[in-house]
Amino acid sequence: MSVKMRKRMFTGLQPSGESLHIGNYLSAVKGVLALQDTHDCILCVVDYHAITVPYETESLRRRKLGIAAEYLAAGVDSNRVTMMVQSDVPEHTELAWLLGCLMPVPKFEQLPTYKDKKTRYGSASFGLLAYPILMAADILIYKAETVPVGKDQLPHLEFAREVARKFNNTFGQTFPEPQARLNEGAYIPSLTGKGAMAKSIAKGNINLSDDPDTIRKKLAQAVTDPARIRRRDPGEPTRCPVYTIHTCYTPQATLDEITQGCRSAAIGCLECKHILADGIVADLAPIQARREELLAHPEEVYEILAQGVAICRPLAQETLNEVRQKMGID
Ligand code: TRP
Repeated sequence: MSVKMRKRMFTGLQPSGESLHIGNYLSAVKGVLALQDTHDCILCVVDYHAITVPYETESLRRRKLGIAAEYLAAGVDSNRVTMMVQSDVPEHTELAWLLGCLMPVPKFEQLPTYKDKKTRYGSASFGLLAYPILMAADILIYKAETVPVGKDQLPHLEFAREVARKFNNTFGQTFPEPQARLNEGAYIPSLTGKGAMAKSIAKGNINLSDDPDTIRKKLAQAVTDPARIRRRDPGEPTRCPVYTIHTCYTPQATLDEITQGCRSAAIGCLECKHILADGIVADLAPIQARREELLAHPEEVYEILAQGVAICRPLAQETLNEVRQKMGID
């Protein structure tokens, strides 16, 4: 397919948390990998979004590099994908201002992530309220049509579509309505047994940065079927978070044995966890080796990000000029 005919895909990578966890890898990262051959892909490290809630400056700096390195290590090909940092293309924030003037305040206040974070942090910055308009600007500035996101981001995507419609209706057809592409991936439960792995609750996660020992230790402490108290108690795999993770890593034949063995108490939780640990450690090994290499030579990553800016800025400037002109700011 020629580059021109490809649909443009855009997605934002949050530099929050110290490392991606295997849940991110199996859903968000694999979602990007699946599109890099067929779409014109832009990946954007969204540092201006990351500062909408309390954060530490040094850790933000480290995470921007870290998340870029982890996507590259996981198989994102810098020859096929454009990767850059949001604040290096200031046109995003300028477009956010222009588009923000079209949207009524209650629309922002109704969004679930705003309400949740406001409750979680006890207050909300103006940046947190404005978050979705910056996200809309990220997407619309490249006239992207396909946007891979997690389920929690669907209301933001709907908001971005509304912004596009509002602009088109007011100032003439300009933006395509971006389509969400839900990151399929498996549901990866937290090792605490409560909910999914989440970057904000590090305790229950297995991270791309965890060495084999850490992975084994974390798994050893993981919650299993709560009804299986003693080794001789039969277990129920469907109640066990460790089993759910097994389904993503373990070949079917072994999985069948584990299912049987758990229900008949022929194998214990420790043995079951060893098998899973081996699978995860083997799966992550090449990614971790590449990750270490990139972090030891950050200049390689910075160079890729600089190339990304060189590609993105002219595109962003073109859309911004078009919008300014249509809005009478020229
Ligand atoms: N809000 C997104 C998240 O938390 C990150 C993001 C920022 C994004 N801008 C975007 C995602 C544009 C898709 C498109 O995951």
